[in-house]
Amino acid sequence: MAKILRSFLFVPGDSAKKLAKAGGLEADAIILDLEDAVLPVNKAKARKMCAEFLQSVKTASQIWVRVNPLDSEYIGADLAAIVPLSPAGIMLPKPDGPVDMESLSRRLDELEAAHGLAAGGIKILPVATETARAVMSLGLYPRTYLPRLLGLSWGAEDLATDIGALTNKGAANKGADGQFAFTYQMVRSQTLLAAKAAGVQAVDTLYDDFRDHDGLRARAGAAFREGFTGMLAIHPAQVPIINKCFTPTGAQIQRAKAVVQAFKDNPDAGAVQISGKMLDIPHLKQAQNVLALYEGYGHE
Ligand code: COA
Ligand code: MG
Repeated sequence: MAKILRSFLFVPGDSAKKLAKAGGLEADAIILDLEDAVLPVNKAKARKMCAEFLQSVKTASQIWVRVNPLDSEYIGADLAAIVPLSPAGIMLPKPDGPVDMESLSRRLDELEAAHGLAAGGIKILPVATETARAVMSLGLYPRTYLPRLLGLSWGAEDLATDIGALTNKGAANKGADGQFAFTYQMVRSQTLLAAKAAGVQAVDTLYDDFRDHDGLRARAGAAFREGFTGMLAIHPAQVPIINKCFTPTGAQIQRAKAVVQAFKDNPDAGAVQISGKMLDIPHLKQAQNVLALYEGYGHE
């Protein structure tokens, strides 16, 4: 199983100041951005700065790069500059669906071979919901062979633009990071289900009100309980909050171990009890999921 990545911090690829800070943060992954955070006039400069970062910065975080979309004029130069430096993965914005993962994979196959890199080593994380077409294709991920696919992430901003919406927020919520309107809540759930059906990580979208730490904690905590394995971040202060929210608590681990033990102690029983509470096979599976998650972060 691929290591589970809880936090993915976006770093604008043309910001020397933010790049200098990025390597020393505790993000499980940093995503050097060549796309929306970088103006067209700065694309070439950002590509160079990200290449330098990949070559020189030592960090415990996985280094990912968000390239420009496959149908943009930048994608060829992005991949040529980045792939030879063996990033952990490529985040692909605005795909139409898994068909675009297949074509990116083929390009990675060629570049890996040309540069003597291990075949298939570079993973892919799409922002899988940025157009209406992409949303309608989510159900194809579980049926497409995509060995590079690390997970599915989703976004609400570009989708709103694509469908001609004036906002992605629900009418009743006027806060800076108010509740998403129904369409986006539905898309979020579809992303979760598509990721689970495909057997890959489910990565929730970013919380844009980056000074509202309580709001982030509430959103990230709820996402973890729903089955998301990680979340996108835009500010360093969000990273420790996300890491904590997506790690089972000590009490949850203890409880899961106790449930697994209770079934081990009663190998012939389909139902057991702890302190007078009945537990059957779904409880055992849930406990095993909690322990698998914990081990997936690299803990014992
Ligand atoms: N990565 C690395 N460092 C970051 C950072 C990031 N994403 N966001 C902020 N920082 C640094 C700042 O440079 C500042 O450094 P300093 O202490 O050396 O001065 C420190 O963290 C505190 O930042 P702060 O002043 O609170 O915020 P800001 O006004 O500098 O930046 C944003 C606010 C939103 C512009 C910034 O967080 C950002 O660029 N986020 C990522 C945007 C992005 O990539 N979007 C595309 C994907 S949606
Ligand atoms: Mg975008």
